[in-house]
Amino acid sequence: MTRELGPRDWGLGTDADGRLTVGTERAVDLARAFGTPLHVIHEERLEATAARFRESLEEAYPGRSSVHYAFKCNAVPAVVEAVRRAGLKAEIMSPFELDLALRLGFGGADIVVNGPGKTAAFLRAAVESAVRLINVDSLAEIALVDEIARAAGRTVDILLRINPDFVPRGMNAGSATGSRKGCAFGLDLKGGEAGEALALLGDKPGVRFRGFHVHIGTGIREASAYSQALDRLAPLVRETRDAGFRVDVLDVAGCATFKDFAGEIGRAVRRIFPGPELPELIAEPGRSIASPNQFLLLTVAQVKVRPKVRTWLVTDGGLGTVTLPTFYECHEVLLADDVRRPRAERVTIVGPVCFASDIVYRNIRMPEVRPGEVIAIMDSGAYFVAQESSFGFPRPAVVAVNKGACRLVRRRETFEDLTGRDVISAPPAG
Ligand SMILES: Cc1ncc(COP(=O)(O)O)c(C=O)c1O
Repeated sequence: MTRELGPRDWGLGTDADGRLTVGTERAVDLARAFGTPLHVIHEERLEATAARFRESLEEAYPGRSSVHYAFKCNAVPAVVEAVRRAGLKAEIMSPFELDLALRLGFGGADIVVNGPGKTAAFLRAAVESAVRLINVDSLAEIALVDEIARAAGRTVDILLRINPDFVPRGMNAGSATGSRKGCAFGLDLKGGEAGEALALLGDKPGVRFRGFHVHIGTGIREASAYSQALDRLAPLVRETRDAGFRVDVLDVAGCATFKDFAGEIGRAVRRIFPGPELPELIAEPGRSIASPNQFLLLTVAQVKVRPKVRTWLVTDGGLGTVTLPTFYECHEVLLADDVRRPRAERVTIVGPVCFASDIVYRNIRMPEVRPGEVIAIMDSGAYFVAQESSFGFPRPAVVAVNKGACRLVRRRETFEDLTGRDVISAPPAG
């Protein structure tokens, strides 16, 4: 039987009445003060997690390594600033993320660029910002980067993103970014595109080949998945070196925690590079850093009991607005008003949108919950804020708690935020 998770698993606590606490703050007080839905960042723990990730990689890997935080996972500036204080750099996939990274103080040399559909305008902005690396996703993109770089009078360092046709055991198809059939990402290793790319480089003075990038998905729990994927690259690395290229960098993209992963990846790299010269290892983690250090508070507006059918907790947030990842991920749900109340019944938790699929979870075991009480969706730091929508409701505020001090780091959306882009011709009523 698996152990039930409790606040300590997230570095949180409870007060004498069992109310969930973060630092010296009670979650229910935050909900009352700032309104719900409310994202709560556990800032000091986030920073510590990011630092531990970097240190684990440095300890486990004898060559140079660097960690570029994946903005896509959670680009709330307070989150990015915390990981930056921990010594992480930036991984971005859009013009917005590029602008944000620069605005938050990253230099071009701290930025790695990814994305399967980079436009010429985006690539131009990346080249002008002198980003550290562009991870090219297709043969056509090599030519485009070369053309843009030459027009700007620069030489751009690139990695070739390789699709290794590897799907980790148990991974759902939607997350399998290293699948040849299921995912358009990267150069097709089996189809020989990596070799074609190397051949193309001969007359492309605008780009300088530095190595390979491989990403096999998100939420991977078994470290061995990474070494199995990397092993598929071994013949390519040999052929590349035989063709006279240096392979200076290996980017393993998003990856889960920590020592065992870093150790496993390190061993795999040393198998592929048996000589004395190891490539620099880059990791681009998002989830493993941000996910466990944020939770989402929702208020239960109503408890609807349909006898012999179902009990619903109607809250102010569901997957239509703020919990999209609950559609495909399992997250613990705690009763912030009393985490010790026994889980006595099965309920379905839904959101406020008039949309039948606005569900958080169906049939989950929860304590008896009263209207007005607050629940906490745990591990909500990754891909929740990033994917939330203003489906009839403003997007929520975000607060950060650091050593007992709490501050608002993103205010709730206002009516003006929501209508500011619209052309409204009707005069205001009254
Ligand atoms: C290229 C790339 N790097 C990094 C990441 C971050 O992955 P994760 O959040 O699982 O660490 C992703 C996520 O999809 C990605 O596509």
